[in-house]
Amino acid sequence: MKTILITGCSSGFGLETARLFLDRGWTVVATMRTPREDVLPRSERLRILRLDVTDPDSIGRAVEEAGPVDALVNNAGIGLLGALEGVTMDSVSEIFAANTLGTMAMTQAMLPGFRTRRSGTIVNVTSGVTLKPLPLLSVYTASKAAVNAFTESLALELEPFNIRTHLVLPGRAPDTAFGQNARSRMENAIPGAYAPLAQSVFAAWQQPGPVTHASDVAEAVWRAATDLSCPLRLAAGADAVALASA
Ligand SMILES: NC(=O)c1ccc[n+]([C@@H]2O[C@H](COP(=O)([O-])OP(=O)(O)OC[C@H]3O[C@@H](n4cnc5c(N)ncnc54)[C@H](OP(=O)(O)O)[C@@H]3O)[C@@H](O)[C@H]2O)c1
Repeated sequence: MKTILITGCSSGFGLETARLFLDRGWTVVATMRTPREDVLPRSERLRILRLDVTDPDSIGRAVEEAGPVDALVNNAGIGLLGALEGVTMDSVSEIFAANTLGTMAMTQAMLPGFRTRRSGTIVNVTSGVTLKPLPLLSVYTASKAAVNAFTESLALELEPFNIRTHLVLPGRAPDTAFGQNARSRMENAIPGAYAPLAQSVFAAWQQPGPVTHASDVAEAVWRAATDLSCPLRLAAGADAVALASA
């Protein structure tokens, strides 16, 4: 029976991915900053561990408690919409700490186990915004584009040890808590001079069109973890798939 460890399982893509792997018979180590037993179905194959990917002690404890795992999904992440002029450097640091450094730190912590067992899969969840630049997302996009570059180089480094490395690039998913969770970092992030641009961005989001659902991301992670012929980069969601094939 295979085991997957997923970061950021309290909501959204991480939660749906944990559900899907449980449904399909895997053992799931669902990690959360604030562990909650009630968000996932009870199962002997489910363990919920506390993990904040920005805290080295928390990473060390979670990796030790988890024991051997077959696949790691670096899903935990935070958003930020704002003009660079309006964004504080504290917010920039927060974004990179969670999205970029958190992914690197978790990966580094899991590698000795994967390398020793000569087996393992790493799936890094980045974003479709790295496929086509959008305004007011410069910092967030940079944090995810760095993970794309990191993953592509790392894939070559880990290939000799039979460790597979993948990127899942979701499109915009208005149904998750992502936008709401980003709000605390967005106060004053759109100075008046940028208001018309922000209005045009918000208006575009109101238009009907393809979006991404959490189930699209869970299925993409499933493919990355189980299909040996899966490409390194996988777009998830109709909007991201359209961008990737444009
Ligand atoms: N929604 C979108 O439109 C979209 C599009 C493309 C890519 N993505 C990416 O997809 C991933 C999941 O997003 P989502 O839409 O599912 O958003 P979400 O519902 O806000 O889920 C994000 C998860 O990450 C966790 N998290 C945040 N900071 C963390 C930290 N320092 N340590 C551990 N966990 C942390 C959150 O935990 P708490 O509950 O404790 O905050 C939450 O469980 C993110 O990496 C995001 O950048 C999202």
